[in-house]
Amino acid sequence: MRVLFCASEIYGYAKSGGLADVGHSLAQALSKHTEVFSVMPLYAFMDKKSYQKSSIKFSVTLGGIEYKIDIYEATTQSVKTYFINSSILSSTKFMYGDERGEYTNNDIRFGIFCVSVVELAAILKVDIIHANDWHSALVPLFVKRAKSNIKTLFTIHNLAYQGIFDKSSLGRLGLEDKYFHMDALEFYGNINFLKAGIIYGDAVTTVSPTYAKEILTKEFGCGLEGLLEAYKGKLKGILNGIDETVFNPQNDAALYHAYSYETLQKKYENKKELQKEVGLKDVKKPLFIMVSRLVHQKGFDILIESLDDFLKEDINFLLLANGADGYKQALEPYAQKYKNFKLLSGYDEALSHRIYASGDFLLMPSLFEPCGLNQMIAARYGTIPIVHGVGGLKDSVHEKKTKCARGIVFSQPTKKALLLAVKRALKLKKDEKRFNEFISFNMKCDFSFEKSAATYYALYKKVLS
Ligand code: ADP
Ligand code: GLC
Repeated sequence: MRVLFCASEIYGYAKSGGLADVGHSLAQALSKHTEVFSVMPLYAFMDKKSYQKSSIKFSVTLGGIEYKIDIYEATTQSVKTYFINSSILSSTKFMYGDERGEYTNNDIRFGIFCVSVVELAAILKVDIIHANDWHSALVPLFVKRAKSNIKTLFTIHNLAYQGIFDKSSLGRLGLEDKYFHMDALEFYGNINFLKAGIIYGDAVTTVSPTYAKEILTKEFGCGLEGLLEAYKGKLKGILNGIDETVFNPQNDAALYHAYSYETLQKKYENKKELQKEVGLKDVKKPLFIMVSRLVHQKGFDILIESLDDFLKEDINFLLLANGADGYKQALEPYAQKYKNFKLLSGYDEALSHRIYASGDFLLMPSLFEPCGLNQMIAARYGTIPIVHGVGGLKDSVHEKKTKCARGIVFSQPTKKALLLAVKRALKLKKDEKRFNEFISFNMKCDFSFEKSAATYYALYKKVLS
């Protein structure tokens, strides 16, 4: 079986969040079962010279306009990645948008990406395309429209991002009027890319079993709960994993000191060095960490509401976050007022590893969380997760002694529940024996992608049978 895994970002080449991690680690894990290629856009910020020019080139026509496509290649471990290069795709500085918002030509940028993926899939003679999120959601539609025999699996990583555009997109994408229908792309008078993945995908998955159930409800369905209910027969929740070689405290070049559950003193040494690096005093205090995009989803409203009480505790709090200026402005006065709070803005992969390695507790008060990888990464680095029990957090963090990961789970996304969870964490930290038991247990958990990759592979086989 030949599989083409397609995503708008893949770790190692371009990353803004968990989708990229999955694009890398799932493809690697799948390559142990079958032949896997991956494909993503070539963005303006990527240096073409680092990639090999492929002999494959073609042009695609959308809305009567011809776009020339050439392809670049690179191989990471066992997976070859193809990069779609088109002047429109790389006409923007960043992947999706900038401080002014999402790019207005994203419909045509990712439309070109999707048609090109289908073209490439035919050239590579793949049996199945695994498409992810709204940026690749038109792939199943273009496959069906071309009456191709290729099968498609579509994964929803986050229902909150649907790729909604004005009706005029339809013409720019060269799609017939019949697609402007509630059983196709139409969504309250607009065009909705994500709908195409759900409707035309031969199978649909999302990234945790709990989220698969939640999205059928009004609270989590983002307006698509009715559609998902209609297609729930082909919907399955499969929990993500992480690449345990990328996230490995025993061999991580970003850390000050390598460590394992047998050498936890070294974790403490990392904490000392990092606190010096960022300017936080007193390493004896419990260090709470967060590594996140600054968006509503991640629970920043509850966090900000709780900060005065939280920061009056005998703790340190280190937050590495990128994105939305509104939250940044709301957080900054606290960072000025409280010496035990350090706010680091921006996106920094190596620093994030040092933070995971140095923390005692990871805070994750997400309002919704399709899967979440931070809690798995934290567990691997021996940092105990404190989570709102929702979506994938509910499936991967448990209060039970025997289930991975062990952590503190609160059931309501409220200030009261968050502060109570913090109190429980502080009590746990005081009981050194129990605290260390949590850490060693978590560091031995299997959060690799192996099990889930086998489930995806079984699903590919089912779709192809
Ligand atoms: P999401 O995809 O919703 O942002 P996930 O938990 O699935 O959330 O994945 C987030 C990924 O991005 C993790 O690998 C996390 O460590 C990383 N990450 C998030 N914010 C930052 C940041 N500011 N700097 C570095 N890495 C970050
Ligand atoms: C999305 C979700 C996150 C998930 C990630 C990878 O970004 O917000 O919960 O872990 O995709 O599937």
